[in-house]
Amino acid sequence: MAIRNPDAQAAVAAAAVAVLVLFWPPARALPVSPNPNLCVDRNPNVIKCCPSRSNADIINFTPPPSSSPLRIRRPAHSLDPAAAQKYANATALMRSLQADHPWNFIQQSNVHCAYCAGGHLHSSRNITLEIHFSWLFFPWHRAFLYFYERILGKLVGDPSFALPF
Ligand SMILES: *[C@@H]1O[C@H](CO)[C@@H](O)[C@H](O)[C@H]1NC(C)=O
Ligand SMILES: *[C@@H]1O[C@H](CO)[C@@H](O)[C@H](O)[C@H]1NC(C)=O
Repeated sequence: MAIRNPDAQAAVAAAAVAVLVLFWPPARALPVSPNPNLCVDRNPNVIKCCPSRSNADIINFTPPPSSSPLRIRRPAHSLDPAAAQKYANATALMRSLQADHPWNFIQQSNVHCAYCAGGHLHSSRNITLEIHFSWLFFPWHRAFLYFYERILGKLVGDPSFALPF
């Protein structure tokens, strides 16, 4: 039904704005705090990717000392042969770890899979955590690569090992 009276139109518009101001959800992201101890393969027939993990308690991250060697990531096309070989060695070592070792290549891929296949829930709501299609994309993947790189470096005994890009 069209409203022809201008005063009535203005009143309807004002009411609509008031409703939006009062009830529109605030543009704030909810805190992201999944329980890393709880990974659920919601549909294991389709995809099963909860990573194995040790029974040790998860410890809070502490940054390495500032005196640690700097890791300098270089473009893949300009890696010297020794650096390329080291990367190949590191990946081979990661693949050769026991299948359920948390550092194993497949387990590392499972960490990523679990966070994009509904393995973890938002702590406060019954919705699954999806690391893509939102602001979480960059911080999550940066953290993932940070630890992935540290593992590779540890496997080849080089604390300055850096992933090529
Ligand atoms: C790669 O691994 C091979 C076999 O263990 C070793 O001989 C070689 O020195 C390693 N290369 C690098 C660059 O780490
Ligand atoms: C959470 O959501 C899932 C999938 O939508 C549903 O199967 C489950 O019953 C829900 N759990 C609770 C406690 O609401």
